[in-house]
Amino acid sequence: MTINVLFVCLGNICRSPMAEAIFQQLVDEAGLTDKFQVDSAGTGSWHVGEKAHPGTRRILAEQGIAYNGRSRQITAQDMADPQTYIVTMDQSNSNNLHRQFGQHPNQHRLLAFSNQTTETDVPDPYYTSTFEYVYQLVKDGCEGLLETIRKQEGL
Ligand code: 4NP
Repeated sequence: MTINVLFVCLGNICRSPMAEAIFQQLVDEAGLTDKFQVDSAGTGSWHVGEKAHPGTRRILAEQGIAYNGRSRQITAQDMADPQTYIVTMDQSNSNNLHRQFGQHPNQHRLLAFSNQTTETDVPDPYYTSTFEYVYQLVKDGCEGLLETIRKQEGL
């Protein structure tokens, strides 16, 4: 059975593509590639079809992480499977999903899985340009998320 993980932010050009790329790398390094389907999407449609933000692409390239995805907007189909891990970057993303699609039983904020930070929201680097800080937060969250899923799914 495939485990679906969908990272969600506002524009799907800064934070959620970064999370998708980092998490995919962690999954690959753990030898679990064939167990997971990892993706990302935005609640907004402004950047649909665009590559990730240059700041996200730069930091991923510096870390040797490949990413070629394009922005897309989340759909009802993405939210339809109650087992999909829906992982948001901040409270506003969570609220947007809730408003648009109702309660999802497996929806979480990424930083709930980090024990390295007291931050609850990944700040939006589209406005702050703090791509390195965001990378650290997202990486911590992704490591915690994979650990949690491995325990839950017995991997
Ligand atoms: P993201 O950042 O949600 O991390 O992809 C943003 C990108 C674009 C916009 C907002 C946030 N925007 O308003 O266009």
